[in-house]
Amino acid sequence: MIGIKAPSRKSDIRSSIRRRIPMRIEAPTPMQDETTTTRPTSPYEALGGAPVFRAVCERFYDLMESEPEFARLRAMHADDLAPMRGALASFLGGWAGGPREWFESNPGRCMFSVHGSLAIDRDTADQWADAMERAIAETDIANRALADQLAERLTSMARGMAKQAA
Ligand code: HEM
Repeated sequence: MIGIKAPSRKSDIRSSIRRRIPMRIEAPTPMQDETTTTRPTSPYEALGGAPVFRAVCERFYDLMESEPEFARLRAMHADDLAPMRGALASFLGGWAGGPREWFESNPGRCMFSVHGSLAIDRDTADQWADAMERAIAETDIANRALADQLAERLTSMARGMAKQAA
């Protein structure tokens, strides 16, 4: 069983975002291939790899563009969402144990430097979390239990990014 370990406290989420710690994998029982050699499988692979991460992000930005309930979140983004569609898929894939392209092409960039100047409040963090939860629920992912863990981990991370009102 492959597990995505959700941080237990808000401070853990913040520190994990600050330190750019990738999606944690709880020591999985290695999956076996036909030759019975064992090989640990990342959440990225177990979820379906690049096509699944791409589909989730396409759906996420489609929802953001079309649903009035995500209007405030949409307004925070650039007019053209095309670059973000690819960038988020690449970031999430690397974070889940897949190719590290986003991290290699963005040296020194982290969740804090990307979002530090944005006024993320409770409402916009909830909008991000809700859109992502729906995108993952609506994407065809065979390992539903792992997909649910992915949604839980990302929505908790997004909610942890809301800045407290002064
Ligand atoms: C909490 C609510 C969130 C809001 C309101 C938000 C909003 C934004 C906005 C407006 C940008 C574009 C910034 C720019 O143009 O420079 C951005 C970029 C980005 N966001 Fe978020 N975000 C949120 C949460 C998250 C989460 C939870 C993740 C990943 C787990 C994430 C991953 C990214 C990445 C990787 C980029 C940069 C993509 C790139 O330019 O290469 N965001 N976000």
